[in-house]
Amino acid sequence: MKIALCFAMQDEAAPLIETLSANEVINTFNPHLPFRLFQCTIHGTALSIICSGKDTRYQVDNIGCEAATLLAYETVQRLQPDLIISAGTAGGYKARGAHIGKVYLSEGEIQFHDRDVPLPGFSESAIGHYPCIDSSKLASKLGLDCGVISSGSSLRKSPQDMHAKKHVVAKEMEAAAIAWVASLFGIPFLAVKSITNIVDEENLSEIAFQENFPIACATLTEILTNLLHTLTEADANKYIEAR
Ligand code: ADE
Repeated sequence: MKIALCFAMQDEAAPLIETLSANEVINTFNPHLPFRLFQCTIHGTALSIICSGKDTRYQVDNIGCEAATLLAYETVQRLQPDLIISAGTAGGYKARGAHIGKVYLSEGEIQFHDRDVPLPGFSESAIGHYPCIDSSKLASKLGLDCGVISSGSSLRKSPQDMHAKKHVVAKEMEAAAIAWVASLFGIPFLAVKSITNIVDEENLSEIAFQENFPIACATLTEILTNLLHTLTEADANKYIEAR
């Protein structure tokens, strides 16, 4: 089995890369693309950690759905993974029991929350409703909560964001893009997101995100390490059955 773990931000991935002693591998991706690849094996399973790389014009990571779509496509083309995981940070909802550093697994579906196309067919297509694996066994084994992960193009909170949509547990900026590519190629998909900020609270998401980023990355790394060990143990296939 081959697992691809996709991150938008290098600092989200760095502690895991260090924990797993993954090595950077060059010349795998198209040289025009900014993505970075780190690889290791766990229990004989090949793990690839793919990071979005830098927007060299502004010296920041390539976050968001456009880069995530391209990263996922290049990952599928070059690495042919059996499972794609979108890992990273997200906003959570206290109405759903979120707290800073809580890690959620995707469950049910992955969607977009800021695409509004009031035309027959386009409306649901824009929301996406992409499949993800049934993570219930994995969640109960690891003691995690799960729910719908929703993607958009803004960190800044909109008035609509203040009210958690039914079943949505986390709001971020990449999972739906990657889930779309995974669904096109029939590859099982899972999202793992750690909470940096509470959306249904009077605060600025961008301030809370910066303050809580280190805590969220620490819990993300711990959970991902356990999750990867669980997935790569002998009978791991039982955890990645599609819905
Ligand atoms: N990433 C972390 N927190 C987020 C939020 N509130 N919205 C979008 N992306 C995020």
